[in-house]
Amino acid sequence: MAFVLPDLPYAKDSFGSILSAEIFDYHHGKHHQAYVTQTNDQVGPAGLEGASLSEVIAKAKAGGNAKLFNASAQVWNHSFYWQCLSPEGQQPTGKLKDMIVRDFGSQDELLAKLKAESVGHFASGWGWLVLDGDTLKITSLHDADTPMVHDGMKPLLTLDVWEHAYYIDYRNARPNYVDALLGKAINWEFVAMNLDGKGVSRADQG
Ligand SMILES: [Fe+2]
Repeated sequence: MAFVLPDLPYAKDSFGSILSAEIFDYHHGKHHQAYVTQTNDQVGPAGLEGASLSEVIAKAKAGGNAKLFNASAQVWNHSFYWQCLSPEGQQPTGKLKDMIVRDFGSQDELLAKLKAESVGHFASGWGWLVLDGDTLKITSLHDADTPMVHDGMKPLLTLDVWEHAYYIDYRNARPNYVDALLGKAINWEFVAMNLDGKGVSRADQG
């Protein structure tokens, strides 16, 4: 079964000036779609027909198939990223809020560190909030790299900092894009759900 481009979990025009419909047209409709197509084209030749997306990613990594790893990991990373966003301007609550205060001191400190990591990440990649055991940690990964192939990185929240994620709306101003998302557009309910350690499954398919 071929992998598919997942629908966005909201209307593409629901973020106002934070993210335009045009950026979703390109980022979701063109870039994410291209990774889906590239993955489907390579799964058969790699002998991985019928494997789930997460299995393809793991086996491509283990087998040193960088081209398939990059395409398939980008399918998963983007499927996860869309779910991390919400046009509703939520705030962390409950257990997640308590863990943020425990591990970072305050929500503001978490946001400042995640912004610094994401803005400071050199070239293309992803800023991440992950769960290591019972501890929240911030990191960033290069290019298509993804938490699921690293020990101690259960995915909770990601920010796409590839230039294609913000250039249409923010030109080169990555800090403004990161500020807008962290301040107004994070789906903290989704982040809290991922504290169960099953975040990988929420962007998996096949
Ligand atoms: Fe992207």
